[in-house]
Amino acid sequence: MTGLGNLNCQDFEHIEHLPGVLFANFGPREARNGEFPQKLEFRWAHFEHYWQFCSAIHLTQRQATSELPAILSKMSTSITVRRPMKSAVSSTEAFLRSFHNQYPGLTAKAFGGLQVTMQGSAYPSTYHLLIDTLPSSLPNSSVLEVGCGDGFLLSLLADLPDSATTLTGIDLSEAELQQASLRLGPRAFLCQGRAQAMPFASGAFTHVLCHMALMLMDDAPGVVREIRRVLVSTGIFAAVVGARSPGSPAMDAFREIVSRYPRRPEYADVQFGDKRTRSAQGLQELLAQGFTDISIQDLSATKILTKMQFWNWLIDMYDVHLLSEDDIRAARDEYFESLGPMAELDGTLSHIISLRLFVATAA
Ligand SMILES: C[S@@+](CC[C@H](N)C(=O)[O-])C[C@H]1O[C@@H](n2cnc3c(N)ncnc32)[C@H](O)[C@@H]1O
Repeated sequence: MTGLGNLNCQDFEHIEHLPGVLFANFGPREARNGEFPQKLEFRWAHFEHYWQFCSAIHLTQRQATSELPAILSKMSTSITVRRPMKSAVSSTEAFLRSFHNQYPGLTAKAFGGLQVTMQGSAYPSTYHLLIDTLPSSLPNSSVLEVGCGDGFLLSLLADLPDSATTLTGIDLSEAELQQASLRLGPRAFLCQGRAQAMPFASGAFTHVLCHMALMLMDDAPGVVREIRRVLVSTGIFAAVVGARSPGSPAMDAFREIVSRYPRRPEYADVQFGDKRTRSAQGLQELLAQGFTDISIQDLSATKILTKMQFWNWLIDMYDVHLLSEDDIRAARDEYFESLGPMAELDGTLSHIISLRLFVATAA
């Protein structure tokens, strides 16, 4: 039987015939006619672990760690591996998954074109800043993005000139991964799963990136440990996280109003992330186990928006969606009423967004 090492579209028949193992979402008719879909999903039904998947398709350990993404990238079909999340999903993860399934792509929409300042210099976006943390030449490297969302960052990496980097993304949300798959096609290997228990071999990646996701995750020390496990020694782990903003009258009013409404009962326990991810000292503490050469930089971006634009920006945030539809409407009315005196003469409101970038090296 042909292993993935020699796989081309015709070989999919072999995969289909593996004994009850892989279910590709095309039937024997398409296979007979040589018509293959643009998108192919492997269901993880019989795999406990990435390794079982790899050995079932006859990959050696070396191929699985260093060559699989490259092999996949040569195929004309985009591949998503769906791995039922066996480990218990917390109420926060259930909320995040459902939010991102309902509104995929929101983060890239909010941050993709948001200019940021770091140490007095301006950068086109936080995604670009993250890419700049990697060595300028990336041949033979493999980059994992944890909490990859709709694949915006991975697609910037894919577009780098002469980039032979193999790209992998993992995320909780099916809808985000679907958008990532549309964006990236066969260029990246995408996987549904939890950052706390990733289905990748130890030392499988040369670099790990994470954009606006670490500060949301449960068990931050566990996530950092898991990232260290999948990284090679001296590999880079770089992330952009949210930080405590200085506040602005418009944002303070929003927080105060939203906090007065009860959450939907199913979201009563939702708590976003570990507060250590929101301070430089806390990040140092979290990264101390397993990483060296930790550098942490403060970033900021300014938003100047009309009242309506401001609300439309706030409504994309998680907090509002913890409330019922009726309460969201009531909070919105209250919010608009309270904004009048805060607006500038031209009717705009400004708000500073504080963020943080860290870069660490796997010890
Ligand atoms: C704010 S979005 C950022 C998405 C993307 N990195 C970007 O910046 O465009 C956070 C993402 O992290 C994912 N996420 C949250 N907790 C996760 C976890 N424990 N494991 C994997 N993904 C997670 C969410 O599903 C969501 O897509």
